[in-house]
Amino acid sequence: MASRLFASLAIARSALAYTWPSPHLDRLEAMRWDQLGYNSFDTALFVTPCDRYIHPDEKGYTGVRSNAGDWVRTAYHDMAPHNKEDGSGGMDGSIRFWEEQARPENPGTHFNNSVGFVAGAIDRHFSLADGLALLLIMAVENCGGPEIDFRGGRIDATEPNNAGVPEPDQDLDSHEAAFARQGFTPEEMIGLVACGHTMGSVQHADFPDQVAESPNGTDYDAGVSFDSSLVAFDNTVATEYIDGTTQNPLVVGLNDTKNSDARIFSLDGNQTMSSFAKDPALFASTCATLLARMIDTVPAGVTLTEVIRPLPVKPSELKLTYLTNGTISLSGEVRLFDVTENEARTVQIAWTDSSCTGDDCAVHRATMPHTTSMSSSAQAGRYTNLWYGNTAGLAELDAAKGFGAFWFEIDEGNGAGPTKKDQDGAGFALPTDKFMLAEGTCGPTVAVAVHGSLNATRVFIAGDAFTADNQAQASSPNEFDLSPSSDADEHGFVLWTVELGGLPGYSYGILAEIDGSTIELPQNERSDFC
Ligand code: HEM
Ligand SMILES: *[C@@H]1O[C@H](CO)[C@@H](O)[C@H](O)[C@H]1NC(C)=O
Ligand SMILES: *[C@@H]1O[C@H](CO)[C@@H](O)[C@H](O)[C@H]1NC(C)=O
Ligand SMILES: *[C@@H]1O[C@H](CO)[C@@H](O)[C@H](O)[C@H]1NC(C)=O
Ligand SMILES: *[C@@H]1O[C@H](CO)[C@@H](O)[C@H](O)[C@H]1NC(C)=O
Ligand SMILES: *[C@@H]1O[C@H](CO)[C@@H](O)[C@H](O)[C@H]1NC(C)=O
Ligand SMILES: *[C@@H]1O[C@H](CO)[C@@H](O)[C@H](O)[C@H]1NC(C)=O
Repeated sequence: MASRLFASLAIARSALAYTWPSPHLDRLEAMRWDQLGYNSFDTALFVTPCDRYIHPDEKGYTGVRSNAGDWVRTAYHDMAPHNKEDGSGGMDGSIRFWEEQARPENPGTHFNNSVGFVAGAIDRHFSLADGLALLLIMAVENCGGPEIDFRGGRIDATEPNNAGVPEPDQDLDSHEAAFARQGFTPEEMIGLVACGHTMGSVQHADFPDQVAESPNGTDYDAGVSFDSSLVAFDNTVATEYIDGTTQNPLVVGLNDTKNSDARIFSLDGNQTMSSFAKDPALFASTCATLLARMIDTVPAGVTLTEVIRPLPVKPSELKLTYLTNGTISLSGEVRLFDVTENEARTVQIAWTDSSCTGDDCAVHRATMPHTTSMSSSAQAGRYTNLWYGNTAGLAELDAAKGFGAFWFEIDEGNGAGPTKKDQDGAGFALPTDKFMLAEGTCGPTVAVAVHGSLNATRVFIAGDAFTADNQAQASSPNEFDLSPSSDADEHGFVLWTVELGGLPGYSYGILAEIDGSTIELPQNERSDFC
């Protein structure tokens, strides 16, 4: 009886997603579930199609090498120095350092290429290491592989890790020892290597004694692929190995000393590879588990978030703006996850005044418009997300009444009437309706309206960025303090301002310290405000 109770509690708890707003989880959720299209960073564009490759000459090629292969290999080489005994190394973005990239264990342009795809997206809530983990997920998912659980919260290293990436000319004992240090058994090593080496190629430029030059020469960074499909994430790496037709340059390569896949794959008498060859679903599920563990291998002291599941109904850029005439403008959008277009659908935002505390508060509503261009997708189109709303304004509110609880009402136009979406009863609310951007924020003067009753002791803008070469955190100040620049107006609001000559070019947040705690305004998908 007791055990059944615990089991059902566990199920109920795991079904609970986080609730909006959470600046950290909202940001991770956006990066995970909006990969392409409206409001996204469009990172998945670079693995669409999956065999797309952007050469450092900035030309794009398909069919010769792939960003997808780069992204998977980069995640492994970032993690590989991990030492589970002393907790050092792991997924921490240290592969960005030239010093690591220059080591013999890291040949190739893969690492710098991959870092370049996400460096621009980092901020306080999204590290480069989270970005590299997500690149692996996007590569696998966009090339036909399984969905992989994504957690955030990795912390970027400030200096290179110890060396520790396995090299193909090392013997089996060294490889077993390296994977044991990283936290994987010999059987898991076979799995992880097969899951990685189902994608991409070995380049003559990097291993001239191991693979012949591609007929294309080195112009396209072309290599010889591990299996007959350059990028498809599937079990052909195993079927071709088992049936003896493999071209894998680390199984049948020119220099047997470097045929590390041959030694690893046969380590258990080919049992693991045979099981992968027989059962594509087993290969996919084993890879989903092992690759998730690989990207979740982090230095001691780093705590990862829960697995980031998509919010079915998610506000975006939902914000209040204090207008100089003393009214408040409500603007923003809502994202509906995994839905199809429906011309008959109407979406409304509904809210009550924050000044009303009883049971019988008036409900206000505004319609959230939609056009077919307001659409994003994830996992190579497996999910389509539609957006409704208007970032230029939805309604004007009386500053004295404020903006209290809100929710969305979705009517599919099929006669069933509207459905209330309020995070399964938890409700939606901004952290406060007494701290908001003020009109003109996006000019050289940044202005924020803060109600006197909040007793704010500090109002500031915080951002994070790397230096242009991605080697270190930007040394320019990443926090800008605002100061009160007016007396309280008739509604009790004080304007706080700072002259910045424009907002930071990178992601930033707007925060206030109130009574010992810090409130951050919810960010939009792309994590800026203007
Ligand atoms: C004993 C362990 C491993 C060894 C010795 C090894 C060795 C290699 C070598 C020599 C290459 C060719 C690189 C180049 O041409 O510059 C390569 C490519 C690659 N490796 Fe591994 N690897 C190992 C484990 C892994 C693991 C665990 C993963 C990921 C789960 C992985 C993912 C990849 C990918 C995706 C590529 C292709 C990159 C591209 O398309 O250019 N490798 N590996
Ligand atoms: C690294 O990548 C950046 C683009 O992200 C590029 O500008 C730079 O030239 C590359 N550096 C090297 C050494 O390849
Ligand atoms: C084969 O690889 C080993 C280990 O990297 C190297 O020492 C040896 O010179 C290579 N042999 C040839 C013929 O290139
Ligand atoms: C050579 O490169 C072209 C183009 O970009 C590609 O279409 C072709 O498949 C490549 N050939 C080989 C043998 O890799
Ligand atoms: C494992 O498979 C490879 C490739 O087919 C084969 O060469 C090798 O003999 C096999 N090893 C064992 C122990 O069966
Ligand atoms: C306040 O300004 C906004 C924007 O200029 C305008 O739409 C609104 O009608 C004004 N409200 C009042 C009460 O003057
Ligand atoms: C602001 O300060 C006053 C007086 O100390 C206090 O009563 C009130 O609770 C404070 N408000 C907040 C939001 O902390």
